[in-house]
Amino acid sequence: MAATEAQHQLAHVLPLGSRIDARGHLEVGGCDTVELAKRFGTPAYVYAEDDLRARARAYVDAMRARHGDFDVLFASKAFPCTAAYRLFAAEGIACDVASGGELALALRGGFDPARIYLHGNAKSLSELEAAIEAGVGHVVLDSFDDIERLERVAGERGARQAVLIRVTPGVAGRTHASISTGQADSKFGFGLDDARVAIERTRACEHLELQGLHMHIGSQLLSLDAYRPAVEAIATLGEFRVYNLGGGLGVAYTAEQQPPSIEDYVQVQVDAANELLGPGKKLLIEPGRSLVANACVTLYTVQTVKRNVSTWVGVDGGMSDNLRPMLYGSVYEAFFADRADRAGTGERCHVAGKHCESGDVIVRAVPLEDPQPGDVLVTPATGAYGHAMANNYNGIPRPPVIFCKDGDARVVVRRETYEDLARRDVE
Ligand code: LLP
Repeated sequence: MAATEAQHQLAHVLPLGSRIDARGHLEVGGCDTVELAKRFGTPAYVYAEDDLRARARAYVDAMRARHGDFDVLFASKAFPCTAAYRLFAAEGIACDVASGGELALALRGGFDPARIYLHGNAKSLSELEAAIEAGVGHVVLDSFDDIERLERVAGERGARQAVLIRVTPGVAGRTHASISTGQADSKFGFGLDDARVAIERTRACEHLELQGLHMHIGSQLLSLDAYRPAVEAIATLGEFRVYNLGGGLGVAYTAEQQPPSIEDYVQVQVDAANELLGPGKKLLIEPGRSLVANACVTLYTVQTVKRNVSTWVGVDGGMSDNLRPMLYGSVYEAFFADRADRAGTGERCHVAGKHCESGDVIVRAVPLEDPQPGDVLVTPATGAYGHAMANNYNGIPRPPVIFCKDGDARVVVRRETYEDLARRDVE
């Protein structure tokens, strides 16, 4: 396959601005990935900084072109990394945090507390206290316990806290069951009947100021069909000033996947809101995955090639740096960094991780050309929920996060060490 053809097929899963150079090496953010692997070791998460910025701007531009009063929130669970918070704060977007830990990171990354929205289906008292003390702009109420507890916490501090109520509209986005959230039988939010009660109760609270409703119907949605019926459902709850329509836009993990564009996604949300929620509303959207997934590739080094019934290409990472194939059956592309121009050719192989279980397979049946120990393997589209869900199974130190821009690479999160693995030991 010619370099341009391989590049063309892979282009939409790779970070914006990636290219394959004359030697067939993949470049991300102007940096040769073969060189990056040598310099920083593997596994490593390699992000193109410009890609992150471009997608944030695409969301803001798409909203600005269609709706005057809006905010775009970085759903930071997808990539809770100080450098990412800093970058998105500098881009001027707002931030969704799902825990006290993400709140702490968002503040550390320089987010104005007023631009932070605290979510969570089981927030603790201390998380609510931390939010009020930090001066978080909005808390998204998720249960009757939340309402009661936040009213108390705000009251004790003499605060009046702006809140949204999370509603499960009874409409589920089409996606893996583990990441579908809009259905009635969900641990998230209030069903429509309970939402009516929650609205009344919140309005009666002296220290809570109900500004509007929130919904998030699911993640990795490759069809936009569910948004309109979901907005229709929440429209039955009365009129509010603010509506947060959640995140969920899917991304391309493989060359064949064709997700809707950011513009199409925004158009569907804005049309539904304008037609069903009434004029003069503030609209919020909170993308996570679609802001960060395709900005990153993971680099691994092949350790072994074993042939039995299948060909197993064993690499130096696995379910400690990418849990998604194991949790959701997610599929990825894989190819070699120094012969990216020949991606999609060769023997069908399973790319196996180094962890002690058979399910630790990162990509199945992917064509790889003449795999050899020492080869640098690339899996694109690992920027969302990769670093976020990384773990230390089998005592594997978590990979570094490297930001690349205009040919310069910098480590924004260093690789963990064996000392880090023992850092919390008391004895
Ligand atoms: N807002 C709320 C309230 C959410 O729960 C989520 C994702 C988002 C926004 C962002 O959704 P996104 O734009 O990323 O689809 N670990 C799973 C994904 C879990 C998503 C959880 N909530 C995965 O790796 O696929």
